[in-house]
Amino acid sequence: MQLPKLSPLQSRLLASVIATCLVIIIWISFQPHHFVYAAELPVAPQDVEYSQLGQLIPPDTDSEAILGSEVHGNPEAEREGGYVGDFKYFDRSLIGRAEEGVDTLTNNEAKEMDTTPGTTKYFVLEKSQIQARRRAYQDSSLELRDTVNTSESATEDEDGPHARDLLQSRQGSDQVYITVNTCQQPIPEHIATDDPPQLTLYVSTSANNQKPGPKSKDGVTSITFQHGYGAYNATTTSDVYIGIDAPALTKGWNGSFSFQITASTDAPYDTYDQWDTFLRMVDTDADSSLFVTQDLLSERNDTANITNWMGVTPVPFSMYAFKSTDWGGKGLEWSKCGLQWSLDHALNSTNSTQKITVDTTMTNRSTSLPKGQFHVMGLEKNTSYVGFLAMDGVNGLVPENMTAIRGSRVWNQFNWTTKAESTCQVIFDLPFCKDVAYAVPSSPQFANNTPALKELYDTQAENYYTNFSNSLAQVACDTKGSAQYSLARTCTDCARDYKAWLCSVLMPRCEDFSAEGPGLKDRNIDQPLANGSLPYAYNMTKEFNETTRERFAFQGSRNPLIDSAIQPGPYKELLPCEDLCFDIVRSCPAQLQFKCPARSMRSGSYGKRESGPQGLTCNFPGALVNLNQFQGAAIALPVRLSVSVAISMVVGIVLWI
Ligand SMILES: *[C@@H]1O[C@H](CO)[C@@H](O)[C@H](O)[C@H]1NC(C)=O
Ligand SMILES: *[C@@H]1O[C@H](CO)[C@@H](O)[C@H](O)[C@H]1NC(C)=O
Ligand SMILES: *[C@@H]1O[C@H](CO)[C@@H](O)[C@H](O)[C@H]1NC(C)=O
Ligand SMILES: *[C@@H]1O[C@H](CO)[C@@H](O)[C@H](O)[C@H]1NC(C)=O
Ligand SMILES: *[C@@H]1O[C@H](CO)[C@@H](O)[C@H](O)[C@H]1NC(C)=O
Ligand SMILES: *[C@@H]1O[C@H](CO)[C@@H](O)[C@H](O)[C@H]1NC(C)=O
Ligand SMILES: *[C@@H]1O[C@H](CO)[C@@H](O)[C@H](O)[C@H]1NC(C)=O
Ligand SMILES: *[C@@H]1O[C@H](CO)[C@@H](O)[C@H](O)[C@H]1NC(C)=O
Ligand SMILES: *[C@@H]1O[C@H](CO)[C@@H](O)[C@H](O)[C@H]1NC(C)=O
Ligand SMILES: *[C@@H]1O[C@H](CO)[C@@H](O)[C@H](O)[C@H]1NC(C)=O
Ligand SMILES: *[C@@H]1O[C@H](CO)[C@@H](O)[C@H](O)[C@H]1NC(C)=O
Ligand SMILES: *[C@@H]1O[C@H](CO)[C@@H](O)[C@H](O)[C@H]1NC(C)=O
Repeated sequence: MQLPKLSPLQSRLLASVIATCLVIIIWISFQPHHFVYAAELPVAPQDVEYSQLGQLIPPDTDSEAILGSEVHGNPEAEREGGYVGDFKYFDRSLIGRAEEGVDTLTNNEAKEMDTTPGTTKYFVLEKSQIQARRRAYQDSSLELRDTVNTSESATEDEDGPHARDLLQSRQGSDQVYITVNTCQQPIPEHIATDDPPQLTLYVSTSANNQKPGPKSKDGVTSITFQHGYGAYNATTTSDVYIGIDAPALTKGWNGSFSFQITASTDAPYDTYDQWDTFLRMVDTDADSSLFVTQDLLSERNDTANITNWMGVTPVPFSMYAFKSTDWGGKGLEWSKCGLQWSLDHALNSTNSTQKITVDTTMTNRSTSLPKGQFHVMGLEKNTSYVGFLAMDGVNGLVPENMTAIRGSRVWNQFNWTTKAESTCQVIFDLPFCKDVAYAVPSSPQFANNTPALKELYDTQAENYYTNFSNSLAQVACDTKGSAQYSLARTCTDCARDYKAWLCSVLMPRCEDFSAEGPGLKDRNIDQPLANGSLPYAYNMTKEFNETTRERFAFQGSRNPLIDSAIQPGPYKELLPCEDLCFDIVRSCPAQLQFKCPARSMRSGSYGKRESGPQGLTCNFPGALVNLNQFQGAAIALPVRLSVSVAISMVVGIVLWI
């Protein structure tokens, strides 16, 4: 039989059609996972051919779908991590590898799920997900991403073998980080005495055991959750099978679990830091407390990062607080979503006593560096609370010296106790004395009017400062050379140090009268306490009256305004640090005649900075209190302060102008 004579164009078309058919046959006879591999490689020569063929195949055939989505690539889908969809096509329709009831996980995507006690939920992270990471890695290193088209692919061909080498070298094994947070747990029907039940994580990398659970035998790793957190690092190149088992409930527990699972090939997604609280307490009063995180950066001239942190909305930090005697947070201490649920649960339960609110902001106080700030309100006096700091990952914002946070991080929990008396009130963010952030003497008339209290103190400080500035202006400040009062110090130093000292002495740091510790000084002891009795009522001796009760030093406040306008009654003052006084003497011109009290007198007006477990021994701008962590650090023991230290001393506010 004679073949019809074909024009060169026709024969080329025929060749193309035959080639297309061959290609389709080859495609169908291939092992499905080979496609997966082919798709993961950077666009290689054969891919280019396929994509050209793809254009010739009529639409609405299955082949077109395969060629079109797999090889040709859909730039839209790719840019949005469209590989997921591509792989799903094969995994679901062609491979059908995952067993019934096994959910597929996507790299770095959290999956939240409810589960009933006594059941196990199954997941799989397919190896394509592990390998997709490699592809992404290569794409970024070859800068291929978003520019996939035939012509460019052709020019990238030279990079192909190199890329494959890279792939080979990384193919040995891969880390998979699995993290699971419990987001909800059963609640006790009455008062819980046992710890809440915890989930268990089972991991298998064997295709023979695709549903790892409590009944699995060999080759399965089981991890019981701790405090609502389970994590496992698998080293594997194969599919990872995961089971999350919810235990059957024992008597006394009611409800169900929910959890959030994430598998990542980069790093653990949700993390827990058991070594640090990352938070410091600024101060507390009887119904509120102020906390800050550590500085998030260390370079003051890193303005871009500072601006980013200061402007971040919403603030990625959250602080959770519960009364120590409440059940809140128990069993979920290492899980951010669990803590959130505990808080919501506490707020919504019928007999709720939880009325704590937290005002979260960013601040750059005292160090000029950004940090998170938490004003916790609605607290009860002389009550112990347990607190947790958590952070959500935000692209590009990572606290310095920390690994990036992808999902969430929870830091070690801590305890603190509110003050027992209402004489002290936390103030912060004053317009003039910007670095002041601690409890100052107050009284019931200011209890619900913090702005008035702030203004009273701050205006006084500003007035003093204005007079000081006038005096300073009369000194040869801005002259150069020999006319300058010091080569090392300028009037700017003097003004700064004066302001720090002034704000500290005008606004004494206030403690409960019943508090004990180094650096604390009794004030107003000739006035009755809140319950009507006189301080030291047990000691009415003449000796005590002469050495203490009738001493001017103990009968009033350092700043007379406090006694005239606020009238706090008896309280204790944490003395300012003596270096604040030394600094102005050193920095300011001699004409201003600043002097610190002589050594023998100094201990009555100033405290000494000491490091040690006893906490603050004197007050200074930016002073912070280390929190009691649950494990680790020793608990600060109060040091008894002798009442008779003060004999005669310089008191009151000594302004040498
Ligand atoms: C998993 O790896 C991370 C990062 O390397 C590490 O911090 C973590 O402790 C590991 N977790 C487990 C359960 O081994
Ligand atoms: C257990 O929970 C269910 C639903 O939340 C509720 O209807 C039931 O009253 C609870 N049982 C007890 C004993 O608290
Ligand atoms: C990070 O570590 C360096 C070196 O230890 C330290 O100097 C810096 O202060 C740290 N940064 C922060 C924000 O703590
Ligand atoms: C809530 O309070 C009421 C009355 O005070 C009490 O009868 C009830 O048992 C309380 N419910 C719970 C769950 O504590
Ligand atoms: C602190 O931040 C505010 C704005 O958020 C800015 O105006 C101020 O200059 C900053 N202060 C310091 C000392 O960096
Ligand atoms: C504070 O509470 C503790 C016990 O919780 C008690 O011993 C102490 O006396 C209380 N302090 C004041 C000043 O009420
Ligand atoms: C500061 O910003 C740059 C780029 O915006 C970033 O690469 C760097 O890691 C940031 N540094 C810190 C300490 O956050
Ligand atoms: C400031 O100086 C003026 C005039 O010398 C004086 O009347 C005023 O009391 C001074 N203010 C303070 C707070 O000392
Ligand atoms: C008043 O309170 C103080 C300490 O807070 C206590 O020592 C004293 O006994 C109390 N007096 C009366 C009459 O309750
Ligand atoms: C000591 O002072 C108190 C209060 O002013 C007074 O009641 C008491 O009588 C005095 N004791 C003596 C021995 O003077
Ligand atoms: C009363 O105070 C004096 C002087 O400080 C002291 O010597 C005495 O022991 C005190 N008495 C009591 C009962 O505390
Ligand atoms: C914190 O409070 C809890 C509950 O009151 C207590 O069991 C624990 O010992 C406290 N921890 C510290 C470090 O104070």
